[in-house]
Amino acid sequence: MSVHFVAEVEEIPEGHRKIVQVGKRSIGIFNIRGEYYALLNYCPHYGAELCKGIVSGTTMESKVYEYIYGKDQEIIRCPWHGWEFDIKTGCSLFDEKVRAKRYEVIVQEGRIGLVLGASSSEAKGEQ
Ligand code: FES
Repeated sequence: MSVHFVAEVEEIPEGHRKIVQVGKRSIGIFNIRGEYYALLNYCPHYGAELCKGIVSGTTMESKVYEYIYGKDQEIIRCPWHGWEFDIKTGCSLFDEKVRAKRYEVIVQEGRIGLVLGASSSEAKGEQ
């Protein structure tokens, strides 16, 4: 496991994102209500730059003719074909086995770090 400090907290205000390069990996870091989450900037469908997509919420499970909006600012839509992923978990909205790779984020002394490597807490089922 290794930690790569890639940004200062001031660079990613709440509701914003920053895409960074760590070696060959392009990774998007998102600030959702003060918590940071990171996804590989690579869509598992056809490899689009997922982290450049629109961030929004989604309609939640509800009764017929009822529309409940939730997960505001927690969903990213791939710019190519519109697959949607939960930024917090990396799971797609249509099948939780289809995931964007995610990384653990730590904050130390105002700096944002990505935890990378075999023993990091990268999401299960990733390559
Ligand atoms: S490449 Fe992302 S949905 Fe197709």
